[in-house]
Amino acid sequence: MIRPLRHEVLRPGLPEGSTRFRGDDHPLALHVAVRAVTAGRTDDVLSVGTVFPDPPPWEPGRTDAWRIRGMATKGDFRGQGFGRRVLDALVAHAVRHGGTFVWCHARVGAIDFYGHAGFVAIGGTFDDGVAIHQSMWRTLHA
Ligand SMILES: CC(C)(COP(=O)(O)OP(=O)(O)OC[C@H]1O[C@@H](n2cnc3c(N)ncnc32)[C@H](O)[C@@H]1OP(=O)(O)O)[C@@H](O)C(=O)NCCC(=O)NCCS
Repeated sequence: MIRPLRHEVLRPGLPEGSTRFRGDDHPLALHVAVRAVTAGRTDDVLSVGTVFPDPPPWEPGRTDAWRIRGMATKGDFRGQGFGRRVLDALVAHAVRHGGTFVWCHARVGAIDFYGHAGFVAIGGTFDDGVAIHQSMWRTLHA
């Protein structure tokens, strides 16, 4: 359900297999989708995101850290609070499982999105071959 929107927003023009991310099959991974359910038609997936336990590269020994991946909202539906609702659900899942730290590789266009949600930047930007990214993190409280 989440991969078609990942493909459209995060991997356009790349093979479908590029939408399979490390961590997707982690037993504690959560994939969240906001869907618009309209009578008489197939419901549309408007926004998606994923979280799973994973230490940040700058602190590989951490056992309380979770990673946010694959945040994407369909073009026409951005700025309406869907991404934030997805992110809040992902963070709540990490907290429920004892997570106290969450991090991501934010695309530069999404730095302010994560900043609004309390994330701060660490280190410089880098290119992973698909986009320019900034590492960001925040602590979590139950
Ligand atoms: C980043 C993204 C997922 C945000 O989803 P969204 O549904 O538009 O976000 P929301 O409408 O829930 O915005 C939540 C808050 O972040 C702010 N925000 C969202 N995107 C922003 C942006 N690009 N720049 C500045 N602020 C942004 C909103 O103003 C809102 O602020 P508020 O809480 O004060 O009202 C979406 O813009 C997207 O898919 N971008 C392209 C793909 C991408 O870069 N994904 C991130 C990969 S790391």
